[in-house]
This record gives sequence, C-alpha cells and structure tokens, in this order.
Amino acid sequence: MHEVQTLGQKIARYITPKSVKETLTHLKGLGDSGRIVAGGTDILLELDRHARPGVTTLIDVSRIAGLDRIQADANGMIHLGPMVTHNQVVASELLVEKALPLAQACWEVGSPQLRNRATIAGNLVTASPANDTISALWALGASVTLDSVDGGERVVPIREFYTGVRQTVMRPDEMLTKISFPAMTEDQRGIYVKLGIRRAQAISVVHIALLLTFGQDGETVTAASIAQGSVAPTIISTPSAEQFLVGQKLTPDVIQEAARLAQSTPKPIDDLRGTADYRTELIAVMVSRGLKALRDNVQASTWPQEPTLLVGSAEKPEQTHRTALIEDDVEIETTINGETVYGRNSAGKTLLDWLREDVGLTGSKEGCAEGECGACTVYLDGDAVMGCLVPAGRAHGAEIVTVEGVSKLGFDPAEQGSAPAETLSALQQAFIDEAAVQCGYCIPGFIMSGAKLLEEHPNPTKAQIKQGFSGNLCRCTGYYKIMAAVEAVAGST
Ligand SMILES: Cc1cc2nc3c(=O)[nH]c(=O)nc-3n(C[C@H](O)[C@H](O)[C@H](O)COP(=O)(O)OP(=O)(O)OC[C@H]3O[C@@H](n4cnc5c(N)ncnc54)[C@H](O)[C@@H]3O)c2cc1C
Ligand code: FES
Ligand code: FES
Repeated sequence: MHEVQTLGQKIARYITPKSVKETLTHLKGLGDSGRIVAGGTDILLELDRHARPGVTTLIDVSRIAGLDRIQADANGMIHLGPMVTHNQVVASELLVEKALPLAQACWEVGSPQLRNRATIAGNLVTASPANDTISALWALGASVTLDSVDGGERVVPIREFYTGVRQTVMRPDEMLTKISFPAMTEDQRGIYVKLGIRRAQAISVVHIALLLTFGQDGETVTAASIAQGSVAPTIISTPSAEQFLVGQKLTPDVIQEAARLAQSTPKPIDDLRGTADYRTELIAVMVSRGLKALRDNVQASTWPQEPTLLVGSAEKPEQTHRTALIEDDVEIETTINGETVYGRNSAGKTLLDWLREDVGLTGSKEGCAEGECGACTVYLDGDAVMGCLVPAGRAHGAEIVTVEGVSKLGFDPAEQGSAPAETLSALQQAFIDEAAVQCGYCIPGFIMSGAKLLEEHPNPTKAQIKQGFSGNLCRCTGYYKIMAAVEAVAGST
C-alpha cells in the first residue's frame, strides 16, 4: 500500500533556483544527494519506490524563465528547452510539420494531465527503452547539450547518450539544457508507430520511429532511419533494413523484405508486456505499416484535429519566480480556489497529500498515487495535472484549483466568478441528472477533467471527450453516462 508520508521521509529540502547557473552550482555541491525535478512524473514515483537512495534534495527547474522554449534556427535546426512538455510539442504547429514522429510520440505519452507536466528532457534522462520520445528523436538524429560547472557544455548525439537500461553518460553534476535536431526537409517523411496493451496510459510493448528521405522522383529512398523501442535494453537502430531500403522504391516486396530484416535484429526482450516472439512478430508488422504509410504519404492521417490538452482557454497566470529553499518548517504561500493559503510540510510531500492533509481539502482523491487514475486531478497554473505527481513545494507562488473550487469557475460564462462554492456547477449537476455517478470515488477527477475540457472545447466531439478523459479511470465503468453528462452541458451552452 502507498505510504502517504514516503516523500516526507526521504526529501528534506526542495529548492527552486532562478537560473541554470544556480542549478549547476547546487548539482555540484549536492552530489548524489541532489536531483533535478522537472515535471516530477518519473522522479516522484522513483522516490516513492525507494529507487533513488541517498537523494534528500529536489532541485525544481520548472520556474526558471525561458526553459520551455521551442525554437527553429536559420540553419534548419530545432531546439527544445529542458522544460518543454509533451503537450507543448503536441500543440506546436512547427513540430507537427517539421518533426511529426516526435509529435506523434508525445501524443502517445500517458494522459493529458501527465503530458501537461512531463518533459521531453525527463523522458530522455529516465532512459527507459520504452520511452516514446527517445526513438523519435533517435530517428530524427537529435543530440542533447549537457552543462556542468566543472565540464562546461558538451553535446552528445542521442545515439551515444545511452549505456544500458535507465543508464546514460550524463554525470550527476550535469544538467540537460537543450535538445537539438534537424527540422525535417521537404524530401523527408517520418512516422511514429506504437503498440501498447491499451489505447491510453500504456507503456509501449513495441514502438517504431521511421524517417525516410526520398529522391527527386519522390519514390526512391535515398536515406533511412528506423529506431525500435521496447525491444532491447536501450533504443536500437535497424542498420540492415536501413541499408537495404536505400536506392529502393517501396514496392510490396521491398516493404516485406525491410520488415523481415528489421525483425532479424537482436532477439527482443521478454517481459510482462509481451513475449520475445510476440515482439518479433510486431516489429515486422509495425515496420511494414509505417513504410506503407510513408509510401502513400498518409503518415499524418491519424493526427488528431484540435487535440484535447486540458490546458483550457484562459490566459495563464504570469509566472513569478520564487527563489526558495523549502524545508518542512518553512511556510509556503499559494493561491487555492482564489484564496491565499499559507502552509508548512511541503518539502517532501506530493501536492495531493499536502492538499488533503495540510490544507484540509479532501475532495481530490488518491486512487493509485502513481499517475494512472486521474482521481487526484487539480489545476496547476491553469493546466489539469495529476496532484499525486506534483511536488507540494511547486505550489509556492502558484495558482491551484481543486474540485472544491470548480463550481466557482463554471464554464457557463454567466456563472464565472459569481456562483458560491457550495453551488454545483452545470457539469456537476449534469453528472447527477445523467446518473453518471456510481460509487463516486473517481468523480472529482472526472469533474476536473470535464470542466477543463469544456473550457478548451465548449462543443467537444466524442473523440475530444475521450481524449479529455483518457487519464481518468472509473472502476464502476460508468463512462457512457459520464460522456453523456459532458454532452448535455455542451449542448446546453
Ligand atoms: C502514469 C504514467 C504513464 C506514463 N506513460 C508514459 C508513456 O506512455 N510513454 C513514455 O514515454 N513515458 C511515460 N511515462 C513516463 C514519464 O511521464 C516520462 O518519462 C516524463 O517525460 C518524464 O519527464 P518529467 O519532466 O516528469 O521528469 P522528472 O520526473 O522531473 O525527471 C525524470 C528524471 O530526469 C531527470 N531530469 C529531468 N530534467 C532534467 C534535466 N534538464 N537535466 C538533468 N536531469 C533531468 C530527473 O532528475 C529525473 O531523474 C509515464 C509516467 C506515468 C507516471
Ligand atoms: S493519478 Fe493520482 S491518485 Fe491516481
Ligand atoms: S463511480 Fe465508482 S469509481 Fe467511478
């Protein structure tokens, strides 16, 4: 069972530095006892599972200005700052056009609440061979910039970054400060294909990222890059198939042979998600599907129109940096449901635990404590996030909305800011009217996701509703009525 105080037992200090330089100084001084936290979606779980023994200080880089930039330079390169999240990539027209495999990989990561916090940099550093963005960036030929006080900057091609399962060449005193890759050119087509054991919130059983360059005829392959994920201790290339494809047109026979060659790379891993034999079969099927899509130029055909991000439509509160050294006896100041709140005991807790235990707001529920169920969904600076994966210290200087405050916000413009907290919002009432509540445990999370969805898409399509709820689980399986409640409110506005 999850220990509510686990992070409290392990993390004594939470630091929010103002600059990269300050971060590097902390990293050098703290050695193995300090660890960067970006979105926190991996590191908090690792701490909870005692997988980072010795770490006593978290260094939160999410308040450093400018680290969430996506930039294209005059030399055809694209650069991502270390705080760029998966949802920022999904929302970026530049990246959908010039780095489609990366955008598709980001869209496959977890759920909207997770993608609003989780960063590409964190995904790369965690170094699981199942992590979606590594393969996409591998195929795109990316490199990472690492910085430290003693070593200065060094650039490492992503293909040389990994040394084993969850192992990289990055030193404890280094920070990943930039991810760079060439923008796809007119003669290139790329795609990312993933298979998980369900459609959302699923770690890959196998995934493939493909990037092909075509000659002037638009049909003959002149260069190929095929990365495979979740099949070996690290992401791997597929040299035999890549070499075979060069000079070929993508006829059915060529595709079949490339798929066979891809399949013949080292025997895949065997684990809970799939046997080695199953993975071997999948590799051929997925390479074949990817190549056919590229041949037919339909690689973007499944890209969602106006994807649901759960970031809403309102302007975000201005980020004011709060340099802070937070220990449990240090009081933090935050805004919750429009009111200023002061509280202690935030250094080593999750936001969910802190809201429930220290602030006394028990509407947000803990269903899993690991980002899977969405019962803990709250808004952090305007975005829906999983409260169980946010360090409580991140609340300092932030704006938080919980289910207790959602009725105040309403999404019927007439209700905004006027309805008292005890009045149900239109969506809450619709849940009652549509009998969308059974045991009720998951409902606060669904209300939070649903309200943010309606703020973002006042008349959502069924697909957008499903996307908006893909991070929320209901063990009573009341999904149809929950969707009906959203549709009822959308129809009435
Ligand atoms: C429920 C759930 C579902 C998930 N589903 C998927 C999925 O489908 N696909 C997938 O690929 N991943 C998935 N993940 C994994 C996770 O969300 C990603 O790996 C995420 O991108 C990590 O980013 P973060 O910002 O949250 O990292 P954090 O947790 O903040 O950090 C992760 C690691 O990177 C280090 N770090 C972060 N930034 C830097 C930096 N700039 N320099 C140096 N070190 C740094 C931290 O110290 C830590 O060791 C899932 C996770 C959960 C909990
Ligand atoms: S997602 Fe946070 S408690 Fe389940
Ligand atoms: S109503 Fe019971 S878990 Fe959803």
